[in-house]
Amino acid sequence: MRNSQYRQIKRIAVIGAGTMGAQIAAHIANVGIPCDLLDIPPTELTAEERANGLTLDSPVVRNRIAQSALDRMKSAKTRSPFYVSDAAELIRVGNFHDHAEWLADADWIIEAVVENLDVKKQVHGRIDQHRRHGTLVSSNTSGISIRTVAEDLSEDYQECFLGAHFFNPPRYMYLIELIPTEATRPDLIEFISGFAEHTLGKGVVRCKDTPNFIANRIGIFSIMHAIHLMLEEGYTIDEVDAITGPPMGRPRSATFRLGDIIGLDVLVDVANNVYENAPDDERREVFRVPDFILQMVEKGWHGEKTGGGFYQRRRGENGSEIWTLDYNTLEYVPRSEVQFDSIGKIRRIADTGERLKALICSDDRAGRFAWECFSHTMCYAAARIPEIADDLESIDKVMKWGFNWELGIFEAWDAIGVPESAARIKSENYAIPPLVENLLESGRTSFYKTSSTSKPVKSNADASLTDMGDGVLCLEFHSKMNTIDNPSIEMMFEALDEVERNFKGLVIGNHADNFSVGANLALMLERARNGDWEALEGMISAYQRANMRFRLSPKPVVAAPAGMALGGGCEIAFGADRVCAAAETYIGLVEVGVGLIPAAGGVKEMAIRCLEDVPLDADVELFPHVKRAFETVAYAKVSESAAGAKQLGYLRETDTVSINRTHHLQDAKQLVLAMGAEGYQEPQPREVLVLGGTGLDPLRSEIDLAQRAGRLSDHDVKILNQLAFVLCGGELTTPQYVSEDYLLELEREAFLGLCGEEKTHQRIEYTLKTGKPLRN
Ligand code: NAI
Repeated sequence: MRNSQYRQIKRIAVIGAGTMGAQIAAHIANVGIPCDLLDIPPTELTAEERANGLTLDSPVVRNRIAQSALDRMKSAKTRSPFYVSDAAELIRVGNFHDHAEWLADADWIIEAVVENLDVKKQVHGRIDQHRRHGTLVSSNTSGISIRTVAEDLSEDYQECFLGAHFFNPPRYMYLIELIPTEATRPDLIEFISGFAEHTLGKGVVRCKDTPNFIANRIGIFSIMHAIHLMLEEGYTIDEVDAITGPPMGRPRSATFRLGDIIGLDVLVDVANNVYENAPDDERREVFRVPDFILQMVEKGWHGEKTGGGFYQRRRGENGSEIWTLDYNTLEYVPRSEVQFDSIGKIRRIADTGERLKALICSDDRAGRFAWECFSHTMCYAAARIPEIADDLESIDKVMKWGFNWELGIFEAWDAIGVPESAARIKSENYAIPPLVENLLESGRTSFYKTSSTSKPVKSNADASLTDMGDGVLCLEFHSKMNTIDNPSIEMMFEALDEVERNFKGLVIGNHADNFSVGANLALMLERARNGDWEALEGMISAYQRANMRFRLSPKPVVAAPAGMALGGGCEIAFGADRVCAAAETYIGLVEVGVGLIPAAGGVKEMAIRCLEDVPLDADVELFPHVKRAFETVAYAKVSESAAGAKQLGYLRETDTVSINRTHHLQDAKQLVLAMGAEGYQEPQPREVLVLGGTGLDPLRSEIDLAQRAGRLSDHDVKILNQLAFVLCGGELTTPQYVSEDYLLELEREAFLGLCGEEKTHQRIEYTLKTGKPLRN
């Protein structure tokens, strides 16, 4: 038997290029692994193929399904499955009939064909004829029994086979459920868990081979229960979605919008799977699909993919409108604004557990519905241990990582109070699962031990310093969306003082969804409107000095951005010696959108970065590099991943990328320690090469041209001229070296000038209201 310790995955094959298979292949390419993507040869020609004289035997036709899946992914406008479009080059497309021999090159074969046992069995039979002995094989299924898929195959096949259930979309959803069977070799389970976690960056949960595994067992229960409750108690679809989304700590897609995303046909199949294959489930009837949904599926109303499901988008008088299904008549009606007292009251409670508790204790229609939904799902989940999972953490993880719930079921149960809710459940005459009875009988009152979080070293309203251990300090922002203003900046200085005195190095990072969305625009607008220049200047120069001190710190500083790192958030990352970015980092200098230019060192850093790797030979043109940096900031470009940030020049090639979000801050800490161990040298201020008039003049001409072509407003022109001025080092006639401080001064002056512009105020105000940029 080969030892999995030394196993390597150098090439992967994915069979089935549908929604899941194609995107799984894209994610494999994202992490730099070559991947073959195979589907079936089509049985009919398209009109275009016929017109081009192609036949069903033409190779382009035979590879068409996988090829068009790849093309669609490459041209995705939003939420691309690829980190950067170049990754697509790692995917080789083919078809399972002509290219089955490719499987002999694969170290892992992922089957992601339709959810149909017979088809899956047939595909695995064919894989067995072509794969190398000992090659790992997995099935991506929503809930089919894994053991059954491979039951007719060889012993070696069964030993190398398991379920690997990715969630949609595979790049963005953190969860992967791994479902070994009794035959799967333990060393292979270990190996693939490690690979999924450390190479693919996924949150791994091991499941038992029971219908729908964990996430879809509990998640579909929760959806189906809400639907039955709605029918019994006479709620509307709009009401249910208003209650079961953010007020309960769940995504906006709530119940029915989620159903439309999943697809009603799929929802029915997945619910039926439990109904048919878990006959002893005490809540089996919940999985029985109501008539109105069966009728919808029959009519082809499958949700988003067919243009209508529980909701339908229509052209109305004011553009596109969303209408909601009336399930009594199966007609769509205009969406009704739903108002509940309880939801109005709890909306502002930031803590999810407290919000949920306040909601379920409210005695109105929303409160009662939320309680019914939540208490039944809690009890159902508790009764599934040990049937589907041995521990409650697994159930909590899948709901957070696979359904994006803010709290796991048992975390939420702790938050609302286990004894109180158990008493309420009993008073309503339904049974408490033994797991909960036992817990309470043992005298404990919560599922999780309350962890004693270590006291921060220092803290204020917007930021804290915590000790990460091993001599590394962490500066963590925690204001709303992690916007930056004076308290955060003060804590930046505190961090620097503290690191110099008592630590080996510093990580700037946090566990929030977004690293920082930049300066607090609301406060800036208020100061600008009040003409409080002293406060504005004080804030921006302190911000610059803090970032400069990060850059020159005698101890290593690593920034660990994740999610959005915009404007001032991006500039903080620029201040660090190195960046350890989460793979999912959306970073960019977006100030132009709100009528400003970056002024906490952002333009200065772009000036440094755009030329630092360019050889200074007489025959190398420098201007194109400066122009590119100018355009990046002028268009307020934001990267769609950490890899994309390197292409835009926001990150350097030497910056690292951390693939698994759970390990991100630890990775950043390790980088600090490694930099120390390698003999960190205190950086010195740099002399920065700027182009002066040789850059500024052509940039001004470009701006002028764009204005004449009607692509820029007068205010755009004013902002972009300021940006060009700072980036090129101001009024200098020839290229020359200038100090960082000189560039910072130019940034500051330009920034304060723009803060005095009414049109800039209007842009800021609009963005604060709508989240979008205003072109004025
Ligand atoms: P899909 O219907 O979009 O794609 C299935 C693909 O398999 C099609 O392109 C089809 O041509 C191909 N195929 C069928 N028979 C084949 C064969 N013999 N050889 C090669 N290719 C073949 O399905 P989707 O949504 O991608 O689902 C695939 C699997 O993943 C299913 O088991 C599904 O339950 C599971 N899944 C789906 C999720 C979703 O959100 N769509 C989420 C998680 C799991």
